[in-house]
Amino acid sequence: MTKENSTYIIKTYGCQMNEHDSERISYILESLGYTQTEDLMSADLIIYNTCIIRENAELKIYGHLGSMKSLKEKKPELIIAVCGCMMEIEEAREVIRKTYRHVDIVFGTKNISSLPYLITQHLMANERVIDTEAVDDIDNLQKAVRKSDVSAYINIIYGCDNFCSYCIVPYTRGRESSRSAQSILEEVRGLVSQGFKEITLLGQNVNSYGKDLHPCSSFSKLLMELDRLEGLERVRFMTSHPKDFSDELIEAIRQGEKVCEHIHLPLQSGSTRILKEMNRKYTAEEYSQIIEKLRESIPNIAITTDIIVGFPGESDEDFEQTIEMVEKIGFDQAFLFKYSKRTGTRAATMEEQIPEEVKSQRFQRILDRINDICYEKNQHYLDSIQEVLVEGYSKGNKDMLTGRTRTNKIVHFPKGSVQVGELVSLKITGFNSFALEGEMI
Ligand code: 5AD
Ligand code: SF4
Repeated sequence: MTKENSTYIIKTYGCQMNEHDSERISYILESLGYTQTEDLMSADLIIYNTCIIRENAELKIYGHLGSMKSLKEKKPELIIAVCGCMMEIEEAREVIRKTYRHVDIVFGTKNISSLPYLITQHLMANERVIDTEAVDDIDNLQKAVRKSDVSAYINIIYGCDNFCSYCIVPYTRGRESSRSAQSILEEVRGLVSQGFKEITLLGQNVNSYGKDLHPCSSFSKLLMELDRLEGLERVRFMTSHPKDFSDELIEAIRQGEKVCEHIHLPLQSGSTRILKEMNRKYTAEEYSQIIEKLRESIPNIAITTDIIVGFPGESDEDFEQTIEMVEKIGFDQAFLFKYSKRTGTRAATMEEQIPEEVKSQRFQRILDRINDICYEKNQHYLDSIQEVLVEGYSKGNKDMLTGRTRTNKIVHFPKGSVQVGELVSLKITGFNSFALEGEMI
């Protein structure tokens, strides 16, 4: 059905899960004969892989979709498809049905493998096709055309059972469902044989991995198995949930030679009262204890986090407690978000929603603190020797390469004779709050 030389472009919004879904969509499209283009205006097929986690992500996507209307009028044969988390929500599909009539295909997060069929159906009937019925088999997923040749994302668990009161993810990605260890190991072995050096295991809550399998397994066991794979250099994972961060997992990170010394552990708030309202199932104290244990076992571990400011009912005092936690823990990096009301979640119905300007003030105050703390953290790296996996060229400068330390710090350094994919030892010669500079020793 695809005409010769058809091109596609995928616009991806949101998290690594979506990025990896887009890599799988690329594989499907390339199997159908499409080739990737960077030019939106000339593409024959445009796919928007959407995110709904915060309102601004959603508004941005509607804005882009709206601007596609005139292009579609000029080029009626252009196919516009929308997929991803937004399309799992009936209200959003209704908006597409009613307001964005130039969208031809809608699919969801669990029927990516149906895409060839949906395209054919659209072309044959010349009408829009909306189908989000789950059909994908997580143990038999199609391959991916990966953005990197060095580092690969691997899905290990889908969905989330936690129902944090602010979060829409459990409604878009459904209940937790682990992929079999056999299918994960097979995929990783294949990647290693292609020359990949690093994998990042993905899941909304990787600590829950294996609990739903028969016989049940655990995330630590999976890490230990991956650690034994010859040829693989580094194993990363995200995201972890503090509520089930076990001692066994700390031990697996400590022992695992390939398991990198970096943990992304969302705190969300430093106030135990707010954590309870968020349904996070841990206290600020318990969070601190996990960090203490981690640092005791793995002294050089880097810790990054997510923080939400302006959750309903967050008082000045609650917010001060978050600032205190940020200072006490000393995060290597923190991703800050203003609370965004998501229809359908419990927090959306809470009274005492915080005014936008208070959220903005808190956001700026904590951001300034975090930038200072990250700066200090990075300063410690000055003059140290770091193992860096070279991932590619620095943006806009072909004489500079970029890679990451085991602790996930980005390092830029002069290329010299180094190749992408190599593991090199670099001396750290400069830094700012976000990245390091280095040179070959
Ligand atoms: N508003 C703001 N931030 C949110 N996050 C999830 N839901 C919301 C929301 N409604 C943040 C959390 C999570 C990260 C991926 O996004 O901090 O860890
Ligand atoms: Fe959302 Fe909480 Fe699940 Fe993370 S753990 S995806 S914040 S519900």
